[in-house]
Amino acid sequence: MERRTFLQALAVWLGLPFEAVRHWERPRPMPPDEGEDFWAWVRSEFPRHSSLINLNNGGVSPHPRPVLEAFFRLELAANEAPAYVMWRQQDQKEPIRQRLARLCGADPEEIALVRNSTEALETVIFGLDLRRGDEVILAESDYPSMVAAWKQREAREGIQLRWVRLPLPSDDPEALIAPYLEAITPRTRVLHLTHLINWTGQIVPVERLTAEARKRNIFTIVDAAHSFAHILVDFRAMGCDAAGVSLHKWLCAPFGTGLLYVRKEKIASIWPLFAAPPERKADDIRKFEHLGTRSIPTEQAISAAIDFHEQIGAVRKRDRLIALKNYWLEAALKLPKIKPLTSQRLSAGLATIQVEGWEPAKLADHLLEKHRILTAAIDWNGLKGVRITPHVYTSFSELDRLLEALQKL
Ligand SMILES: Cc1ncc(COP(=O)(O)O)c(C=O)c1O
Repeated sequence: MERRTFLQALAVWLGLPFEAVRHWERPRPMPPDEGEDFWAWVRSEFPRHSSLINLNNGGVSPHPRPVLEAFFRLELAANEAPAYVMWRQQDQKEPIRQRLARLCGADPEEIALVRNSTEALETVIFGLDLRRGDEVILAESDYPSMVAAWKQREAREGIQLRWVRLPLPSDDPEALIAPYLEAITPRTRVLHLTHLINWTGQIVPVERLTAEARKRNIFTIVDAAHSFAHILVDFRAMGCDAAGVSLHKWLCAPFGTGLLYVRKEKIASIWPLFAAPPERKADDIRKFEHLGTRSIPTEQAISAAIDFHEQIGAVRKRDRLIALKNYWLEAALKLPKIKPLTSQRLSAGLATIQVEGWEPAKLADHLLEKHRILTAAIDWNGLKGVRITPHVYTSFSELDRLLEALQKL
């Protein structure tokens, strides 16, 4: 579809005057090669709120313009005849599977397209054959939905949960590994690990633990919701048996996209959450995709998000996210009454600080109402603070606004 025709159709569809989408008509400038000009170009590719500084990109990320455009184009086209366009023309999972596999060090036959990390990880949590009395090791700091899933198996089937408390924050890989190793018993069947902890941004050296688990024939699940497309993730090198990722976080893919990784040799041993048709072989990763009707435009626009991610480059993106974090965190820690809840050494773009005298929810509300800065309140197990998560489109001047607001506290 011609660009103008597409934009006219989009405006009609959204019930907006053409003027409202007209700015999309401007040609996309070529990105400068490097430096702050490059990042200014990245920033120009993202839609932004008119009055908010968004420093809560940890929960979910915006999509850059090419992803939004790909999604709208697909959605408009699909609506012309959904059963035909969506199912006969658009539903091309294989190229996306291959591209995602390349991004995470997997074989395409190990990647299933799902809707989010919750679906990916709960597929594995509920799909493993476990018996009453079998033990699962997990950390108190794991994501609440996964904790709830394991507790449901505990209540329903008598699986034994063994809880690990990690010393958060920690710069010491050994200190993070030790509690897991101490919890292993001859009855341990599963080790559930979170690669980058959402509360504080702590990175856990999961590869050390998967190696230990493998020696003991213990199944390993890695929650990589926050690490994929943020730091470098290679599931084969990580050595886990299964992992879950949300593509709407750091990859900036459409909302409601995720991937499930299962090591080839383990696929047959996991039941799908939604039963697959009988002709689907037990060792076919596609058995995990039998969901029923879902949004194919949403799924297909993942390609545009991969293009954008590759245009930046995974290493350059990670380094930029770390540089943004270091910029604000180092300055913030020079202010009185501010304490880090994040390891400087084992973290990347996401970090949490405590401000003495401020309850987390009050602090986050204050930053939002007085300074129009969106952060995430963290109040978990004694860790009390605000989580600050810039993204590739965040500018240093926005971080200066955060620092001014912290200074005024
Ligand atoms: C560590 C971790 N795991 C899992 C999830 C769940 O992700 P989703 O809501 O995309 O399923 C999140 C969401 O923030 C998370 O931080």
